[in-house]
Amino acid sequence: MEKEFKRIVDDIRRSKRITKTDLTYIFENAEGNEDYLFEAARNTAEIFYGKQIYIRGLIEFTNYCKNDCYYCGIRRSNAKTERYRLTEDDILSCCDIGKELGFKTFVLQGGEDPYFTDDRIADLVRKIKERHPSCAVTLSIGEKSYESYQKFYNAGADRYLLRHETANEDHYKKLHPSAMSGKNRKNCLLNLKEIGFQVGCGIMVGTPHQTTQHIYEDIVFMQELQPHMIGIGPFIPHKDTPFCNEPRGSVRQTLLLLAILRLLFPKALLPATTALGTADALGREKGILAGANVLMPNLSPVDARKKYLLYDGKICTGEEAAECNMCLRRRVERIGYSVADSRGDHPDAVI
Ligand code: 5AD
Ligand code: FES
Repeated sequence: MEKEFKRIVDDIRRSKRITKTDLTYIFENAEGNEDYLFEAARNTAEIFYGKQIYIRGLIEFTNYCKNDCYYCGIRRSNAKTERYRLTEDDILSCCDIGKELGFKTFVLQGGEDPYFTDDRIADLVRKIKERHPSCAVTLSIGEKSYESYQKFYNAGADRYLLRHETANEDHYKKLHPSAMSGKNRKNCLLNLKEIGFQVGCGIMVGTPHQTTQHIYEDIVFMQELQPHMIGIGPFIPHKDTPFCNEPRGSVRQTLLLLAILRLLFPKALLPATTALGTADALGREKGILAGANVLMPNLSPVDARKKYLLYDGKICTGEEAAECNMCLRRRVERIGYSVADSRGDHPDAVI
């Protein structure tokens, strides 16, 4: 273990800050040193969470999307994607199945689908909360107005996931068409936080044109926002998108960033993402061992999963919810952790 690497890790851990030089140093000198960083991240996660992993049941309820992000398989321009929407009954029965399997959080994720008006979403949230009052509802449905977010909150939604994708405006423009802006996205996150949601932001690691400077700016943005959750996973190309020939993001860099984020945000809920599990067969386990404490197995019906493909090779598209549930519990236990049965709110959240 190299002295300088250790000094930097200890410094981040103590100060909850990182300089761009130190971030670069970690990325460039991790080989042979990373175990020290991962261990520090695990120990930090243990302070608030012990060896507990929270599970969130992901319901991918629509793959219609009005946006056209260059990286995403369900972008509007991808005519090859067979579009679907789950009905309200479908969604409610996913929740019922999830509840039986022990889930205490349901994440409704979808493209930005105009069919799902604010009233339809609010209605859905109300019905889920009525049937499962002990469960949290998380929305992940993109950019909306302050008023829309307020309606969802009033209907009982607890949390909201909206990755900012990149905090750098120029980089944002390289990943999205001009109709979208990084400024609006950041503003959405600030609004969500103000309204009272537990908020999750995040990025993909290794998107085209991403530099260490960009990742540093992402960290600065996160320090301003103070999100409750941070989702990061490697970029994985999708064959029917403009980024089809771009290289995928590195698993190692994703794990390093995950561990750094754990040191900077000891109380954050950090998922070991499905993209990480797709890029590496043991990616989710490695994520937990680098400081992650959340897993988000799929609760969507199997025929929907096969159509909700944001990137190529996505895992778990053939397994039923019950199979993923068992598989994940086994995986978590094998590395010495256990699946928590509480809701897994952020320690500072006002419930
Ligand atoms: N590779 C990895 N992650 C992706 N996402 C979208 N497309 C891809 C891809 N090709 C991520 C984005 C989005 C989240 C729901 O999935 O960060 O916010
Ligand atoms: Fe789905 Fe392992 S989590 S099969």
